[in-house]
Amino acid sequence: MTYLGALVSDVALEFFSENQSDLTDFTLINEKIKKVSGINDFFANQDEATKLLNEIIEKHSIASEPDRREYGDFQTNMDLAHQVAKYSHTKNKEVEFVLEPTCGKGNFLLACISQFKNLKKVVGVEIYKPYVWATKFGILTYYLNNPNTIKPEIDIIHSNAFEFDYSNLAKSTEQFNTLIIGNPPWVTNSELGSIDSKNLPAKSNFKNHKGLDAMTGKGNFDIGEYISFTLLKCFEKHKGIFAFLIKNSVVKNLIYDQKRNQIRMSKSEKLNIDAKKEFNVSVSACLFLTHLNTEPDQTCVECDFYNRNYITNFGWYKDKFVYSVQDYDESSIIDGKSIFVWRSGVKHDCSKVMELDQINGHFKNALGEEVILEKDLTYGLLKSSDLKYDRTNSFRKLTIITQQKIGQDTTYIQNKFPLTYEYLNSHKAFFDKRKSSIYKDKPRFSIFGIGKYSFATYKVAISGLYKSTHFTLVIPKDCKPIMLDDTCYFIGFDDLKTAEIAHYLANSELVQKFLKSIIFSDSKRSINKDTLMRIDFEEAFLAADFEKAKEKIEDLEIHHWETFGKLVNERVAEQMTLF
Ligand SMILES: C[S@@+](CC[C@H](N)C(=O)[O-])C[C@H]1O[C@@H](n2cnc3c(N)ncnc32)[C@H](O)[C@@H]1O
Repeated sequence: MTYLGALVSDVALEFFSENQSDLTDFTLINEKIKKVSGINDFFANQDEATKLLNEIIEKHSIASEPDRREYGDFQTNMDLAHQVAKYSHTKNKEVEFVLEPTCGKGNFLLACISQFKNLKKVVGVEIYKPYVWATKFGILTYYLNNPNTIKPEIDIIHSNAFEFDYSNLAKSTEQFNTLIIGNPPWVTNSELGSIDSKNLPAKSNFKNHKGLDAMTGKGNFDIGEYISFTLLKCFEKHKGIFAFLIKNSVVKNLIYDQKRNQIRMSKSEKLNIDAKKEFNVSVSACLFLTHLNTEPDQTCVECDFYNRNYITNFGWYKDKFVYSVQDYDESSIIDGKSIFVWRSGVKHDCSKVMELDQINGHFKNALGEEVILEKDLTYGLLKSSDLKYDRTNSFRKLTIITQQKIGQDTTYIQNKFPLTYEYLNSHKAFFDKRKSSIYKDKPRFSIFGIGKYSFATYKVAISGLYKSTHFTLVIPKDCKPIMLDDTCYFIGFDDLKTAEIAHYLANSELVQKFLKSIIFSDSKRSINKDTLMRIDFEEAFLAADFEKAKEKIEDLEIHHWETFGKLVNERVAEQMTLF
């Protein structure tokens, strides 16, 4: 290939292909070039780098191949492959047999061949013919350059991993100390469905889906998860280890399903990698390493791949699936049922009209219109991003509360609050446009997430959008309760001291430890009603100390504390509901 009249050698071309993503930022590629050759400022500007990038894409890049999205194609760079092989070696030096089920260009196989000295057999399977060739040439080159290295029997097989007979291979290799290594495709079956791909296993119900999903084999799963599960199951009786680069969500599922599957694996490790750096993709991924042919266990130690810093030990513990076994062990007493009912905030799906700013005594909506309304139906509104403070009675936005409970007739607004009615009615079209079926056949200007609880004077609230487990005490402004939007959860109180104690307990070390122990840092909307309803306030109260609470809560007296104790005492509370 030539570039701007100069011939680019194969070695140089390979270097640029490998570092292709860095060509989008010429300072990055310049840094790499300086590192390998000492040359300063190889590219003078981004244009020069982009020109080369385009040449590579046209002539050599996998991106110029037919759309390879369906193959979840993210080739592992040689450096990472070596690091993974090296780490696997620290866990098992005696590996005799290496299998890579979707070997791509073969970097893992090459890394293993140079790392493990007792190899007797190597098998790679790959669906894409050019990669099969790349792997074969790569291995050939290695041995030409290292003629004295011992040579195992090597099979690079052009085949579909979903059709390949692993059981047979497992049988014929059962005597070998085994390493199953690789990086299966990063794609889910529903993503494949959306591009009409056939790169799927024949109808699979490996996740034991029920109902229609089971019948159609369509329950959503990751292809990497399917390949991991299949190989773990096939080779569980082999002495050896399993080391796959996979998405974090796949590891979580494998450990979650381990309770049911009881695969003969244990001492599992999840070592988080930087997928942006390694693969230029924004996915949370890791090296999952586990030991085969062992008494099954159901937990997994999570660390940083690069510095091995310990993060957590997650999995099944005391019959619960937890993010931190240690924290859960120290706080599981809190895991019960909240005596207070956690609610989510107001939902209206009409922010352009229903959310207002207050400017110089006037209201302004998100359409930029000045609005004149009676104050009666307007309430301060807090969103997730407003719940940063420990205690608040200020708000940036206001909202119109058209109903006191779900489904309430809204015709009263016209008579009692004509300005508000006029405003809502003149923006009727915005309400009619709301897509959610919950608004269908409901009174005009209906809202949801509304009930007596919404008007509680004091609220202990938390954001459902963020990872923070901190609770904010929301107190009224000008004697009017403040509302929360539907991204927040809260419990409501009419008495300040009760609210303050509940707030104090929710933020106590023990409750915070409990929440952190059950919330997985990478799951979306992990702070939800189910999680919050597990907070046992009675246990939190029993574990708390009045004197310490007094330091935090102004004017707290013992009778407040005792009253709260009675309120959260389940037996007393039950009796109270009897009468
Ligand atoms: C994430 S890449 C990893 C490649 C290689 N293991 C590595 O780490 O560099 C996934 C590989 O799986 C291959 N692949 C996708 N579907 C496959 C299938 N059904 N059977 C075999 N290989 C497949 C792709 O062509 C691609 O090379």
